[in-house]
Amino acid sequence: MSATPEKPARLDFGHPPETLQFWKRLVREALSLSPTPLYVFSGEPIAERIAEVDGALIAAGFSQEPSERKPAILFRHWLSFKTQPVRPLLRWWQAQGRPVEVVSELELRAALAEGFAPENILVNGPAKHHWLPHFNQRQLAVNLDSPAELDALLPQAKKWDWRLGIRILTGEEFDPENRGFPTQFGFAPDEVAAALEKLTRAQARVETIHFHLRANVSSVQIYERALAEVAEICRAASFRPLHLDIGGGLPARRVLTRSGKVLDGEFGLRSFAQMLRQSVKRFPGLRELWLENGRFVSAGSGVLVVKVLDVKERRGLRQLICDGGRTLNALTSLWEQHALLAVPERGGEETLTSVCGPTCMAFDQLARMPLPRSLQAGDHLIWLDAGAYHLPWETRFSHGHAAVCWHDDQGLRVVRERQSFENFWAPWK
Ligand SMILES: Cc1ncc(COP(=O)(O)O)c(C=O)c1O
Repeated sequence: MSATPEKPARLDFGHPPETLQFWKRLVREALSLSPTPLYVFSGEPIAERIAEVDGALIAAGFSQEPSERKPAILFRHWLSFKTQPVRPLLRWWQAQGRPVEVVSELELRAALAEGFAPENILVNGPAKHHWLPHFNQRQLAVNLDSPAELDALLPQAKKWDWRLGIRILTGEEFDPENRGFPTQFGFAPDEVAAALEKLTRAQARVETIHFHLRANVSSVQIYERALAEVAEICRAASFRPLHLDIGGGLPARRVLTRSGKVLDGEFGLRSFAQMLRQSVKRFPGLRELWLENGRFVSAGSGVLVVKVLDVKERRGLRQLICDGGRTLNALTSLWEQHALLAVPERGGEETLTSVCGPTCMAFDQLARMPLPRSLQAGDHLIWLDAGAYHLPWETRFSHGHAAVCWHDDQGLRVVRERQSFENFWAPWK
């Protein structure tokens, strides 16, 4: 339907033809390995996104490697574990010597089990003083989230030489459902000076200042304002961080809101990098810029494949009932529209169509858009950009978890089978 000769591509949301061909090829192969619903994930698109950011940062004067000849501020990408908790992805990332950001005990244990060195693990997130004290790894990077966390973790942090940071709640952060309220994360600006003083007096290793604004930050100016605010807080507290951790938040590519707005419409990577270059001048003594992008890095690294099981038509709406959908596999479809492809390709007359999952919830609707009437039971649909926040939010509502295929330079393989009855029922004592 995206590229039939008689119908120009419309539902591909501007994805380049090579991207569409890449996924169609992998999906055809994956369908020979596993029943649907299934996710197909690949390292290649992640490597491309990272290279794009690298290019922009290097062009703006940041550096990837330390150099005596040309000293510059270094940058590091921390993999946002929670965005895409896929074991082969972690291994693939770790094999490149890259570091990982975790926000829970399970994630930290997984990172250690996969062989990440403690100094290549950054622990973020709220209320971690309730589980982090069990860990005695030296030189973990830990961004503190509250005064209570600081008090509880300080003895451990000193004992194990943890490299501490402070997360600041900037004025740019608010509850997305009610902009009048702040989020629950980080130190309020007026708590920061006292926290830094306490850490310095205790001779703890405090090196990092951190913020994470929110998902899909829509413009460079929002980061710029947050950076100015954080720089002023550091100046007032006479604190010179070695590392500036600006979290994630870069918007996903070629994803639309349900009302049709392009998420990254106003966001330019080059101007982002240039703005960063200017803003870091407000942080004297800074050595490293840290980034923890989830969506931007991994959204394009996966697709969800579902099969049409039944077709209905009532009150002017065609409905495709599929074996996967929003409830089980794609909660993000509640607020996002993604490109949708059909295998085999279908064209011809279109009609308003809902793509529904198999659960007994009217809510279970992956997409509603004009689609070719030639789509029929037995066809497969590919929901693109499923590489971020799909697995963490999958459910087992009536049905089990989908299969997962992973692709890298070793080829494509099933890395998680579709959930069996035994696995579905086994956790109960
Ligand atoms: C501390 C932190 N860093 C990074 C991320 C990744 O965010 P995104 O996927 O919007 O880039 C999140 C997401 O919630 C976060 O809380």
